[in-house]
Amino acid sequence: MCGIVGYVGSEQAAPILLEGLSKLEYRGYDSAGVAVYDGETGRLTVRKSKGRLKVLSDMLDGGASVAGRIGVGHTRWATHGAPSDVNSHPQLSRSGRIAVVHNGIIENYAELKAYLQEQGIPFTSETDTEVVAQLIEHFYEGDLLQAVGRCLRRIEGAYALGIVCADAPDEIVAVRKDSPLILGYGEGCSFLASDVTAILRHTRRVSYLDDGEAAVLTRDGIQCYNHLMQPIEKEICHVDWEVDAAEKGGYEHFMFKEIMEQPEALRRCVLPRIRNGEVVLEDFRLDGEYLRSVRKLYIIACGSSYHVGMLGKYSLERILRLPVEVSLASEFRYMDPIVDEGTLAIVISQSGETLDTLAAMREAKRLGAKTLSIVNVVGSSIARESDQVIYTWAGPEIAVATTKAFTTQLAVVTLLGLYLARRLGTMEETEYKSVLEELLALPEKMEAVLANRDGLQYYASQYFNHDSVFFIGRNIDYAMGMEGSLKLKEISYIHSEAYASGELKHGTISLIEDGTLVVALCTYHKLFDKAMSNIVEVKARGGDVLALTTEGKREELGKTANGVFAIPEAHPLLLPCLGTVPLQLFAYYVALMRGCDIDKPRNLAKSVTVE
Ligand code: AGP
Repeated sequence: MCGIVGYVGSEQAAPILLEGLSKLEYRGYDSAGVAVYDGETGRLTVRKSKGRLKVLSDMLDGGASVAGRIGVGHTRWATHGAPSDVNSHPQLSRSGRIAVVHNGIIENYAELKAYLQEQGIPFTSETDTEVVAQLIEHFYEGDLLQAVGRCLRRIEGAYALGIVCADAPDEIVAVRKDSPLILGYGEGCSFLASDVTAILRHTRRVSYLDDGEAAVLTRDGIQCYNHLMQPIEKEICHVDWEVDAAEKGGYEHFMFKEIMEQPEALRRCVLPRIRNGEVVLEDFRLDGEYLRSVRKLYIIACGSSYHVGMLGKYSLERILRLPVEVSLASEFRYMDPIVDEGTLAIVISQSGETLDTLAAMREAKRLGAKTLSIVNVVGSSIARESDQVIYTWAGPEIAVATTKAFTTQLAVVTLLGLYLARRLGTMEETEYKSVLEELLALPEKMEAVLANRDGLQYYASQYFNHDSVFFIGRNIDYAMGMEGSLKLKEISYIHSEAYASGELKHGTISLIEDGTLVVALCTYHKLFDKAMSNIVEVKARGGDVLALTTEGKREELGKTANGVFAIPEAHPLLLPCLGTVPLQLFAYYVALMRGCDIDKPRNLAKSVTVE
C-alpha cells in the first residue's frame, strides 16, 4: 500500500507534493512526509509526521514553509515498524543526503541491515525502507542511477521507489517491481506517482514503468531504463479521466458520491458495448478456436472483487454451461490449483495492483492458462500483464469501500458472459435479447433504488448501535450478502457475518436471540419460499429481520419481516447489481450514524500491494 509522489520543475515542490499526497491518502494514512531539495541553500529538508496528511500539511503551512523545486512525498500504511515519526517516510541515508520513499516490502531487509550494521552504519528506524537509503549511499560513487542499480541487485521483494539525492540535485530516480509507479510528463516539469489521480491536475500525459525498469526525472523530461540500465523509450499515454472525478464535488464522503455515481458509471461501462443488439468487446483477442477449447473458467480475486467472482460463478455457469471455480487470490497462490491450457483464468481487480491477485494471475499463466482481467484502473499491472483486459470504466474510485467499481465489475461479467455465449452458442436467442434489454435498463432502475434511499437511512437509524449483524440468503442472495456484510464491517466496525440461509440450522442459528439483527436477502424468486422459511425460523428465535426483496414480493414479506426494502424487478442475472446498492447505502448510513471515518476506515487501504 502506501502512496508515493515526486515532482521536479520550476514551481515550489512542497505544495504540489502535499496536493498529490491528498489524492493518494486512500492508499495508507497512518503517517506522511516529504523530502525537498533547495538549490539555493544546497539543503535537503525532510519533514514527516505520524498521523493524517493534515498534520503534516499544517506543520508545513500547506507547503509554504519548505523551499525547493524538487522533492518526493509519501503517505504510509505501516508494515515494518509501528506508525511513528521516525518510521515515516522519506527515510534518509546516514549522511542525510539521500532520501527514499517506498511502497512495497523489502523481504531481505533484515539480512541487508545486518550487513550494513557490520560496516558500522547506524539505523534509526524499524523500517525496511531505511535499508534501501543506506544501501544506495553505501554504493554511491557520484552516479545516483548507478548506485540505485547496484542496490536493486541486492534487494528482494516488492517496491516502487522515489529517490532524491543532495549530490544530484536536478533529478529524481524512480524504480519499480511489483508495486505501481506512473510517470507524468508536464511542461518544464516531471512527476512520479503511485496513481494517476495524484498528478491529474498537472498532466494527462503518462507512462507506466514496468517491473525492473528505472527512470530519471528532470525538469526537462524523463529518461527510462531497462533492468540492465540501458536507455529505453516508453509509450506515452493520454489519461482521459476528469480531474473532478477524483474530487468530492460537494458530497460529504467519496463513498456516498461513488454510490450515487453508479447509474452513470454503468452507462459508461455498458452502453458503448451494446451495438445493434449485440455485445461488442473491442480488441478482444481470444479467438473462437481458443474459446471452444476452454474447459473451465477460474475466477481469481480478493475482497469485494472476490464476491463479484462468486456472483459470476452463478451467472457464467448458467449462461455458458461451463464449470466455474472461484478462488481467493491469496489462497490460489499456494494451493496447487488444477489449471492448464484448457483453463481461462478471469482475474478481477478494481485497482489492478492487488499483489495477491497479480501473483495468482502470474501463477495461472505459469500453469498454462490464458488470463482475462476485469480492471478499473487503466494501465495497472494486472491490466497490462493479462492476455486480455476488459475495463470497467467506472472512473476513479477513492473511498476504500468499493461501490461503483463493484457494480460495474458485475456488469462486465454479464457482458462477458453474453459475448462468450454468442461465440459458443450456449444461449437461447430470446434469453440473450432479454438480458441485453435489462442491461440497458439497469442504470434507470438503479436511479430508482437510489431515489428511495430514505428508507435505508431510517432502518440504519433503528439498528446502528447493534454489535453484530447477520446477512443471510441463498444462491445469488448469499453472495450478495457476503458483499453487504463486508461493506458494513469495513466501514462501521460492526461485527457481521454472511451465511447461506440453509446453513443457519447447522450452527449459526444458536447465535440468534432476542433483538439480533438479521438482514435477509430474498431477491431471487426461484428460492423465495425457502428464504421465507429461514426468515420465519429467525423470527421464531426473537431475531429482527430486515428483508431485501423485489417490488413484487414487498407486501408478502412485510407481513413477517420487521422492515422491507424493495428493488425493481429484474432478470436474475442482473439482480445482484441492483440489490447491492441498498446494502451499500445501509452500511454507509450506519457508519455515518456511528461517527466513523467512512472513506478511510481504520487499518485498511484502497490498494493492497503487500501480501
Ligand atoms: C472492498 O470494499 C474492499 N475495500 C476490498 O475488499 C477490495 O475489494 C480488495 O482489497 C480487492 O481490491 P481490488 O479489487 O483492487 O483488487
